Amino acid sequence: MPTTDFRVQEKYRYQNGFNSYHESEAVEGALPIAANSPQKPPYGLYAEKLSGTAFTAPRHENLQTWLYRILPASAHSPFEARESSTYNTNPENKPHEKLHQIPNQLRWDPFDIDETVDWVHSLHLVAGAGDPTMKQGVGYFIFAAGKDMGHREAFYSADGDFLIVLQHGVLDIQTELGKILVRPNEICIIPRGVRYRVTLPLGPVRGYILELYQGHFQLPELGPIGSNCLANARDFQAPVAYFDEDTDSEWTLLSKFAGHLFAAKQNHTPFDVVAWHGLYYPYKYDLGRFNTMGSISFDHPDPSIYTVLTAQSDHPGTAVADFVIFPPRWLVAEDTFRPPWYHRNTMSEFMGLIHGQYDAKTGGGFQPAGASLHNVMSAHGPDATTHEKASNADLKPMKVGEGSMAFMFESCLMVGVTEWGLKKCRKLQEGYNAESWEPLKPHFRRPERRVGEIRNGGEEKEGVIGDRSQVSHWTS
Ligand SMILES: [Fe+2]
Repeated sequence: MPTTDFRVQEKYRYQNGFNSYHESEAVEGALPIAANSPQKPPYGLYAEKLSGTAFTAPRHENLQTWLYRILPASAHSPFEARESSTYNTNPENKPHEKLHQIPNQLRWDPFDIDETVDWVHSLHLVAGAGDPTMKQGVGYFIFAAGKDMGHREAFYSADGDFLIVLQHGVLDIQTELGKILVRPNEICIIPRGVRYRVTLPLGPVRGYILELYQGHFQLPELGPIGSNCLANARDFQAPVAYFDEDTDSEWTLLSKFAGHLFAAKQNHTPFDVVAWHGLYYPYKYDLGRFNTMGSISFDHPDPSIYTVLTAQSDHPGTAVADFVIFPPRWLVAEDTFRPPWYHRNTMSEFMGLIHGQYDAKTGGGFQPAGASLHNVMSAHGPDATTHEKASNADLKPMKVGEGSMAFMFESCLMVGVTEWGLKKCRKLQEGYNAESWEPLKPHFRRPERRVGEIRNGGEEKEGVIGDRSQVSHWTS
């Protein structure tokens, strides 16, 4: 069965479909019929709208959800700035922690788990580009936590959508719109503004987050592939309505706002949405359900063939963020160098590994919970060991990536690295180039028999002739 064999059983129900108009009620009759904002919503609930796009966004992009709740989200005290000493998401917040744009290829050892912090305080911005205040760009975070969020705490980010890639542990996420269980090999998207609380039923967790400051994720176009394959819409799971009744306790509402952390108090639970309907909601997806495509003749296609979700820039086909995975798959291409080719990309590539060994990096330096960044136009490709193996491999059909799941955040933006990513985390590998590409040996040999050599200027050598048939603008 093409699903992940999870060690932890699912415990919640979901409604299926990507970008589907969903509706859910935890009490029968809580959703008003036809009207969104009747004078008196059912059962004395308040109606509230949550907008994911401008009201006037084109219909195919428009994302709005109506919530029917016990008290509106606005019922809280003013926000106050929280200390920033343990909160590390905004490089502008701390002048010494601006983003450093550097062309070096970077690779990190596995990031440590910190058992002393909860979800909110575990967020570490490692790299990014752009600015949430302009709703432009992306932030890449590492999270590593060991504690549940406070019993009466909720968090939201006003900066962007979180695409959470869990590497270790289990996340039990109570959102305003319902509950989601996230296990390794599942991803979860929590849209901008949605309030949630994260608990850790199996102890410490670790993983990666792509925060998308602009737009929202979509499924990639399929072009000639047709109407199915890659990530299929039906495999995305949104929660069903679930609510608590609590209007007596003091709650803390934490807000990530332009990278800064703010806190407000309220005397009721934020998880009081009895029913909702709309297009703007959190969801999850099992990467084991991805239908991987590849070459059945020769060469391998661009890695865009492995795109799970994409967020387009204003220029169609150019993504602010692509979420790409490298799942277990068969390689059958004939007379083909099967690992990725050497390349320099106009896009930046940030990679992580959920588990196993990435088939393009077999040298041991790219570990689960580690990462790499190959920035715009920074040259990279298989390490010397992998090249050696792949150049001499017997090209039988072979399964690669078994037990493995590597992924990539690819962006058209030049990504900068934070001070935490470069120094404070103390995980940056010194010898990445020295291990990976400096050992590459030249294999070029001039042919032994005398053949025509095309010379373009320079000194004529005796016996070296130009090849008229191959030079389109030959003049003698
Ligand atoms: Fe690449």
